[in-house]
Amino acid sequence: MADPLRIAIVGASGGIGRAMLVHLLGRQDVACVHATSLHGSVPALDDERIIAATVDVTDEASVRAWLDGIEHLDWLINCVGMLHDDQHGPEKSIRQVDADHFSRSMQVNTLPTLLLAKHAERLLKKSDSAVFSTISARVGSIEDNRLGGWISYRASKAALNMALKCIAIEWQRSAKHIRVLSLHPGTTDTPLSKPFQGNVPEGKLFSPEKTAALLISQLDGAGAHASGRFIDYAGEPIPW
Ligand SMILES: NC(=O)c1ccc[n+]([C@@H]2O[C@H](COP(=O)([O-])OP(=O)(O)OC[C@H]3O[C@@H](n4cnc5c(N)ncnc54)[C@H](OP(=O)(O)O)[C@@H]3O)[C@@H](O)[C@H]2O)c1
Repeated sequence: MADPLRIAIVGASGGIGRAMLVHLLGRQDVACVHATSLHGSVPALDDERIIAATVDVTDEASVRAWLDGIEHLDWLINCVGMLHDDQHGPEKSIRQVDADHFSRSMQVNTLPTLLLAKHAERLLKKSDSAVFSTISARVGSIEDNRLGGWISYRASKAALNMALKCIAIEWQRSAKHIRVLSLHPGTTDTPLSKPFQGNVPEGKLFSPEKTAALLISQLDGAGAHASGRFIDYAGEPIPW
């Protein structure tokens, strides 16, 4: 039998991250879950396998200090992301582009994956079942973009996908066993999607619990596939 998994969920305070934490704690083959938050909190579940930490994943010193304190890691799942904040919603037109919102989107949606890969590499190299994944979004696909709009979010997720592809290619040379995945969760009922759920077709708005279960099954199966894929919750490839 394989060793129990040591997992890190980055953004375990968010809708999807929190549901992934709960789902994973329901499994016998999970040894511990390092669970991070920034402004929110990790759910106070009565389970000694949770190791909570406050980490600002846009800040390299914060990422480094957190990962330097960990000895073993098999899976790292980055669930951090932003679509809107108190001041800005996603753009409907180029006329609405705001420099601060664009920069913030890149900072929160793109940069953390690079910082996490940089500082988690030494840990994942030691694991026999290493998976490095970030939740991206189908709207980050350039080929799939037929509607336009949501420019900062789309651009930051497209850049995230490029970052993940570069990480996958580099690790194919230096750490072949690490599987790198870019995951689309499907539209999920969380604070991020709340203002935009009006047009979601019947049956297409997933609960966080459903999304968590589907995404985790993709992580479970990652070892059977090549690294560097952009897939949805059902394992279907999405064009870059
Ligand atoms: N929900 C959807 O329909 C949907 C669809 C496609 C893709 N996605 C993607 O799925 C991922 C998870 O989204 P969600 O729906 O679960 O959103 P959410 O409920 O709004 O959660 C967002 C998470 O990001 C964290 N975060 C934001 N800025 C941070 C920073 N600087 N440092 C550390 N953590 C930070 C938040 O932490 P704190 O609260 O602790 O600050 C929170 O845990 C995102 O990447 C999103 O783009 C979601």
